[in-house]
Amino acid sequence: MLEALKKRRAIRQFVDREVEREKIELLLEAATYAPNDRMREPWHFYVMQGDSLKGYEKVALEFLEKRFPTKPHLVESSMKAITNTPLIIAVTSAMVEGDEGATKDNLFAVSSAIMSIWLMAEQLGLGMVWRTRGVGLVHDTALHTYIGASHQEQLVGTLCIGYPAEEITTPKKRTPFSEKTTWL
Ligand SMILES: Cc1cc2nc3c(=O)[nH]c(=O)nc-3n(C[C@H](O)[C@H](O)[C@H](O)COP(=O)(O)O)c2cc1C
Repeated sequence: MLEALKKRRAIRQFVDREVEREKIELLLEAATYAPNDRMREPWHFYVMQGDSLKGYEKVALEFLEKRFPTKPHLVESSMKAITNTPLIIAVTSAMVEGDEGATKDNLFAVSSAIMSIWLMAEQLGLGMVWRTRGVGLVHDTALHTYIGASHQEQLVGTLCIGYPAEEITTPKKRTPFSEKTTWL
């Protein structure tokens, strides 16, 4: 397990190859086994490929052009994160009206589910990066509206997935747990 965790990397470059439906279903199945409070199973997955992904591209382009009207090069380079990705899964978490604690717990559960997808992706020979910022559009309303998510859902991640076009061999840098732990 430790080896698998150390090996997992954020992959941002993909080859031009579709991800098979069976593999996508395995990713989603893996997600559903994540721990979750009171079995609310608060996740929902929006799978985008082909035409729906082209729609996402349009939404992201509009967002970037509005945000960076004087920086066309930045817009162009940022768009590559989407145009070079064959599969994007947007993941939402259910909000529980009047219960901030439960809403937070749902976010924690959905984060766990995303980690399961990430590890499963690696085992299937796929690469993935969990995006939130910029074209990840997690902190904006544009993607939420585009996928048709309800007001009771909040976006947690935009998962860019595909067959990797890069191999990251540099060892993972992490602060040793001893510096992040208080033994009480
Ligand atoms: C909640 C969350 C949001 C992230 N958002 C982005 C993002 O918007 N863009 C990006 O390129 N990577 C994003 N990442 C990936 C991190 O940059 C990456 O996991 C980190 O650099 C550590 O590298 P590793 O995953 O290879 O260990 C995000 C990761 C998490 C957990």
